[in-house]
Amino acid sequence: MIKKGIILAGGTGSRLSPITKSINKQLLPLYDKPMIFYSLSVLMLAKIRDVLLITKKNDLKLYKELLGSGEDIGLKISYAIQEKPRGIPEAFIIGKKFISDQNIALILGDNFFYGQGFTKKLLDEKRLKNGAKIFLYNVKNPEDYGSVEIENDKIKNIKEKSKNIKSSFAITGLYFFDNDVIKYAKKLKLSKRKELEIVDLLKIYNKKNKLFFSLMGRGSAWLDTGSPENLLSTSEFISTIENRQGLKIGCIEEIALINKWINKKNIIKRINFYGNSTYSNYLKKLISHG
Ligand code: TTP
Repeated sequence: MIKKGIILAGGTGSRLSPITKSINKQLLPLYDKPMIFYSLSVLMLAKIRDVLLITKKNDLKLYKELLGSGEDIGLKISYAIQEKPRGIPEAFIIGKKFISDQNIALILGDNFFYGQGFTKKLLDEKRLKNGAKIFLYNVKNPEDYGSVEIENDKIKNIKEKSKNIKSSFAITGLYFFDNDVIKYAKKLKLSKRKELEIVDLLKIYNKKNKLFFSLMGRGSAWLDTGSPENLLSTSEFISTIENRQGLKIGCIEEIALINKWINKKNIIKRINFYGNSTYSNYLKKLISHG
């Protein structure tokens, strides 16, 4: 069972420069809210309340201003610093104390997930006891991602940004690991691009026949936010759905309320904190119904 989650929200965001020269990528807007709300809401949908947010030293203050201790959204949020973007598996080394003897979820702060049945999938998969679980999504351009080849329902090959992969499955930025992940992450060596590679970590699990996968169906969305075009098209996707339904995607206060972690009072506090905005108006509507 997974009870703790890490959000990795450092990185350089080089593809979005100059926007990211002075602003952390995960604080940029995806339509009507900061990008970090979407990854945080995935952990919350998985009913994970104990969260470690890892970011760059200079950005820490901004995240603390936005999310604080997490109390008003029913969470316990702690913070840690990644000095340099030395790769995704470094999260487990930085987060060693936080993870303690538990299993752990990791989500990259720039990932956007959406779709019917996603919450159920999260709740099913978080029951993981041993091994690691990755979530795969069919894409047109697997060569731009970490990717896996599957044969007879087993993972045969794992490759990072490779043109020679016979697969259309990208590895998304959501991972569930058992506690061995700390030990394995410490064993990794820096790659040619001077990073600890998530793919190398997954290979260790796969060698031990302990790497499992869950396919995200074609009725779901895993969208990119890393380039200017993708940032805009993901924002447009969110705007289209939200304005059609009148319901918000990634509203952290709404999820906390549905999970019964917070009450009307907490929501009012958040409304006062946000001030007058369409987001606040949505929160007002949530508590006016009962
Ligand atoms: P990447 O897409 O690998 O890198 P980036 O976000 O810095 O963007 P670019 O490729 O344009 O330079 O990172 C994926 C996510 O993981 C993103 O949310 C940042 C985060 N990350 C870290 O926090 N620390 C790291 O060391 C790495 C490699 C990524």
